[in-house]
Amino acid sequence: MAAEIGKILLPADRIAGRVRQLGRRLARAYTGREPVLVAVMKGSFLLAADLARAWPGPIDVEFVSAESYDGTRPGAVRLRLPRGLRSRIAGRPVLVVDDIYDTGATLAKVCRTLEALGPAEVRTLVLFRKRRARPRAGPAAEPAAVRPDWVGFDIPDRFVIGYGLDYCGRYRNLPYLAVLRQGR
Ligand code: IMP
Ligand code: MG
Repeated sequence: MAAEIGKILLPADRIAGRVRQLGRRLARAYTGREPVLVAVMKGSFLLAADLARAWPGPIDVEFVSAESYDGTRPGAVRLRLPRGLRSRIAGRPVLVVDDIYDTGATLAKVCRTLEALGPAEVRTLVLFRKRRARPRAGPAAEPAAVRPDWVGFDIPDRFVIGYGLDYCGRYRNLPYLAVLRQGR
């Protein structure tokens, strides 16, 4: 095991079980409607794949890319949208799916940007949400936070890796969620 992989917070089977359960709940919440699942890359690539397979009904999938972290430090959010996204989400229910909610800046930026493209509605799901006493100051705390509609797990306020989450481009492929172990 790499020296940077610390304590396992959530083993693979707990994550898989929760994602399947969320898939069933979402499908019920969207009965009779065909949402566009918009996954925020790269962190939510495993979540999007697992959630889409847990979804029993019709669904479309789109990808946007967000970047904000420099190592373990949050910075300003940069967002990239694919060409033609507007025509594929206009008038439709959109479900934004992201790996983790920390300051909420990424989700806020994604929602604000997609809302400008004229969807019927924008709802949000995050798999992990960090428990924090108060919002962190600085650029990452802007703009005003969006409350996620569905949350998979509340986790401690630590830097975590695995199930899509990276540290300097590594560990996204771990099937579990672990704490990053730094220095010694
Ligand atoms: P927020 O904008 O502060 O809510 O942070 C959300 C984004 O930052 C996520 O989509 C992740 O890509 C990244 N991030 C936040 N916390 C962590 C972490 O503990 N490990 C790895 N990436 C993280
Ligand atoms: Mg992310």
